[in-house]
Amino acid sequence: MNILVIKSSVFGDNGNSSTLVNEQVERLKAQHPEATVVVRDLSAEPIPHLDGERVGAFFTPADQRTDAQQAVEDFSQTLIAELKAADQVVLGLPMYNFGIPSQLKSWIDHVARAGITFRYTENGPQGLLDDKPVSVVAARGGLYAGTENDTVTPYIKLFFGFVGITDVSFVFAEGLNMGDDVKEKAMSEARAALQ
Ligand SMILES: Cc1cc2nc3c(=O)[nH]c(=O)nc-3n(C[C@H](O)[C@H](O)[C@H](O)COP(=O)(O)O)c2cc1C
Repeated sequence: MNILVIKSSVFGDNGNSSTLVNEQVERLKAQHPEATVVVRDLSAEPIPHLDGERVGAFFTPADQRTDAQQAVEDFSQTLIAELKAADQVVLGLPMYNFGIPSQLKSWIDHVARAGITFRYTENGPQGLLDDKPVSVVAARGGLYAGTENDTVTPYIKLFFGFVGITDVSFVFAEGLNMGDDVKEKAMSEARAALQ
């Protein structure tokens, strides 16, 4: 069993989402001692933002790429291979300024690749990855879940669904900046939901 862990808190392992993710990974390792765990810490090792050079590398035919362009392509393929190889994904998802961390957006920009992870057909887009459980641990300072202001949850579902992964579940730790009591309750409820 392969577990892919993606952490995207700018606070590294001190982040609330990362704390819950790390605890969940320990739980999974106890349940599956044979499991291989691959960790992508997007704060410790940020993925460059997509720019003209990087997207140009993606669109350049393999036999015409420069070494620098091939390195960009290889990096994207490494991230895709990690996702493909995973039987299960655990994703730490902070909310920053009403959206996902830009580091996570960069990961998505290197994984959502036409012809590789999805393709366009006469019937619309088709995901090319096998479905697998994705357990999302969402941390927010305020309260958003179930409201129209939570644009993050549908966005994450849309991305994974687009590449063929529809088994996406969410655990929310919310109100984390609304006082110690609220935070403590939210974290323990999230822990209970994860168990
Ligand atoms: C730069 C920044 C922007 C934030 N923006 C929001 C926000 O828009 N809505 C919200 O509910 N909380 C916001 N927060 C609070 C975070 O969601 C909260 O600290 C949460 O714990 C982040 O997850 P993390 O601890 O894993 O990084 C923000 C925090 C930071 C540092």
